[in-house]
Amino acid sequence: MNSVTCPAFPREGRIAACLQEPSLGANLSIQPVAACPAPAPASGEDVLSVLARLLAADIEACNRTIVARMDSPVALIPQLAAHIVAAGGKRLRPLLTLACARLCGYREGARHIKLAACVEFIHTATLLHDDVVDESQLRRGLASANAVFGNKASVLVGDFLFARAFQLMVEDGSLKVLEILSRAAATIAEGEVLQLVTQNDLSTDYARYLDVIKGKTAALFEAGCQVGAIVAEKPEAEAALAAYGMSLGIAFQLVDDALDYSADQATLGKTVGDDFREGKMTLPVLLALDAADAEERAFWERTIEQLDQTEADLDRALTLIDRHDATRRTLDRARGFAEAAKEALAVFPDSELRDCLRDIADYTVARIR
Ligand code: IPE
Ligand code: IPE
Ligand code: MG
Ligand code: MG
Repeated sequence: MNSVTCPAFPREGRIAACLQEPSLGANLSIQPVAACPAPAPASGEDVLSVLARLLAADIEACNRTIVARMDSPVALIPQLAAHIVAAGGKRLRPLLTLACARLCGYREGARHIKLAACVEFIHTATLLHDDVVDESQLRRGLASANAVFGNKASVLVGDFLFARAFQLMVEDGSLKVLEILSRAAATIAEGEVLQLVTQNDLSTDYARYLDVIKGKTAALFEAGCQVGAIVAEKPEAEAALAAYGMSLGIAFQLVDDALDYSADQATLGKTVGDDFREGKMTLPVLLALDAADAEERAFWERTIEQLDQTEADLDRALTLIDRHDATRRTLDRARGFAEAAKEALAVFPDSELRDCLRDIADYTVARIR
């Protein structure tokens, strides 16, 4: 397995130590995982690395907060949390919160650190729950927490991380921050439930699909970016950063849904084809279905609606998605939202950080994991 370290999250000795403690998962075989490879631009340094370098002290402090706050005397909690945290992840959301705070001129104080950790905790909690719901076996290049520790432990530690996120919000002391992040947490759950009820339903349309991805993914990007303006006490920047986060988050999930059919599994760190096996109505399927002839429609009815699938069906699904150019068209939509994200930043004066946030939008479309 690749052993590139995420620039935003070098593996912490403490987490590694956690993993070695006797536990339910004592016989885990933890290996470093390829953390942040993205297509490198001509300069050779990808934008996540640039951002992690510009915000090195902040992200380091955020990582320390994450490690400290996932601790608990109930050993299974840090063991399971360390399993997913130490596996890497791009740390995109906390980087965005930190970058947005700095972009708004936040210089004194450390509110953005705790809130960035809070955003990553919400994200991690949703991943733990999402992998149970989706029955996913692979996360961040490792066996998922549910595969290693079981569904019950994953759900409960997810609850713990949500609760920790709320503690961090309360410590921040701003009712406005609490309002925005708690609303996002509720919206994520709504998005996941809406997805559950549209699953296997071929009548799902683009508007409903957008509702799902705005809720389950973009809402946290939106809130995490807006919080940057709040800690900097720049109310005039809140709408622009919220709009940036929303468009970026939509683009991010569109690409995720394309990658679920087309990525290299080892690079993605998740099982390719999970969405198909679950019968999820994601945009590649919506587009292929929309252009389907009678025989193709019968295929989607059998595989997505009735979940009657054979081993060969994922390949057939890919063939139909390719035939109707549905991956490219999904990525085109993502590019449109990435452009909207960049436009939302126009209200900020030119700066290295603003350029980075613009580049993050391009990265989101070009990413391969
Ligand atoms: C995965 O998010 C969940 C989605 C919203 C698609 P990321 O791709 O940001 O996951 P990590 O944190 O890098 O593993
Ligand atoms: C991600 O949706 C949304 C949340 C984690 C809330 P997916 O189900 O597409 O995410 P992955 O592909 O499992 O990371
Ligand atoms: Mg999932
Ligand atoms: Mg996915």
